[in-house]
Amino acid sequence: MPGPHHISRRDFVKLTTVAVGAAIGAVIGVPSVAFLISPALRAGSKDAWAPIGNLEDIPVGEPFAFSFTRTQVNGWERTATNFGGFVLRKSEDPADILILSSRCTHLACQVSWQAESRVYVCPCHDAAFDVEGNVLDGPPPRPLDVYDEFQVDEGGNLLIHVKEG
Ligand code: FES
Repeated sequence: MPGPHHISRRDFVKLTTVAVGAAIGAVIGVPSVAFLISPALRAGSKDAWAPIGNLEDIPVGEPFAFSFTRTQVNGWERTATNFGGFVLRKSEDPADILILSSRCTHLACQVSWQAESRVYVCPCHDAAFDVEGNVLDGPPPRPLDVYDEFQVDEGGNLLIHVKEG
């Protein structure tokens, strides 16, 4: 009488057939699945260089507002993230640039630039920041955040490095 773990020759052949079938399925299936998901993975990349303007259009000494949305695709899930801020060219030197985030460092409302008074104001709790993002008034605990990774390409386009996640 065979024990509970005994595998008959016929069962062994069946099992082997199933295993070989699964292996063939995996080998055939993997390249097509990789082909299908790879564009989604590329779109879902967590970092990117985002163009925010051309230096020709950005005056020296005056904050230049920018904003854009990035959509991340992760499998079936899409997430949109908004980025916004101000470019301040401090001189004619293309590298002499300060790029501030427009997200208030208190509770993340959007600040706006007031050209007459030369301050960024946050409407949520009446905060004010100077042209370089330092706190002048209100509850924010620190200056506006800075996008410190940027580059200018040969055509004068300014790109910032954005990360998500
Ligand atoms: S969120 Fe800007 S002052 Fe509160």
